[in-house]
Amino acid sequence: MKIKNVKFWDLKQLYQLEQKVFEANAFSKDLLKKLIFNNILFLKLKIGKFKKDMYGFIVAIKDNRDRANIVNFLINPEFQNKGYGTLLLQKALEYLKRLKEITKIVLNVQVSNNIAIKLYEKFNFKKDPNVLENYYQSGESAFLMELNIASL
Ligand SMILES: CC(C)(COP(=O)(O)OP(=O)(O)OC[C@H]1O[C@@H](n2cnc3c(N)ncnc32)[C@H](O)[C@@H]1OP(=O)(O)O)[C@@H](O)C(=O)NCCC(=O)NCCS
Repeated sequence: MKIKNVKFWDLKQLYQLEQKVFEANAFSKDLLKKLIFNNILFLKLKIGKFKKDMYGFIVAIKDNRDRANIVNFLINPEFQNKGYGTLLLQKALEYLKRLKEITKIVLNVQVSNNIAIKLYEKFNFKKDPNVLENYYQSGESAFLMELNIASL
């Protein structure tokens, strides 16, 4: 198992995985392409030596002077619940912590996504009490979750 930086030739694989996991809420290929060229962190999880052996990814952008926003994060359904999500998130947080200008990490999560919420809480992310209504294309609402780097 390896965690490596995403490269532009990973686009096809990223998009396939994105559609498989998020279906109607999936990011477009164009948006993923933009993220490959504009991010502060874009890591992929590989469990094999071929291009197709990508089993998860996490991407963050800088959305404010001192704030990183994790805009996409997934593990292939066949490999979920084996600790890979925890590993990938941990690696991402370690990297973001080393960036001097970043003091806060935020993300949005579907209110019904208990698995992801539990995982973020394990790393000390806190839910903002205000629910973001109709946040997703599907009409579902989201929580904003925040982590102060100091509490990592
Ligand atoms: C959220 C996600 C990235 C977690 O990745 P993962 O590899 O499954 O996570 P882990 O195996 O490290 O498990 C994390 C926690 O979730 C729990 N969990 C994971 N899959 C589960 C399942 N199917 N049922 C119940 N609990 C589950 C684990 O028990 C673990 O908790 P623990 O450490 O207290 O035991 C993954 O489930 C996923 O890709 N989900 C779909 C996309 C998504 O929701 N992304 C996040 C958007 S904000």
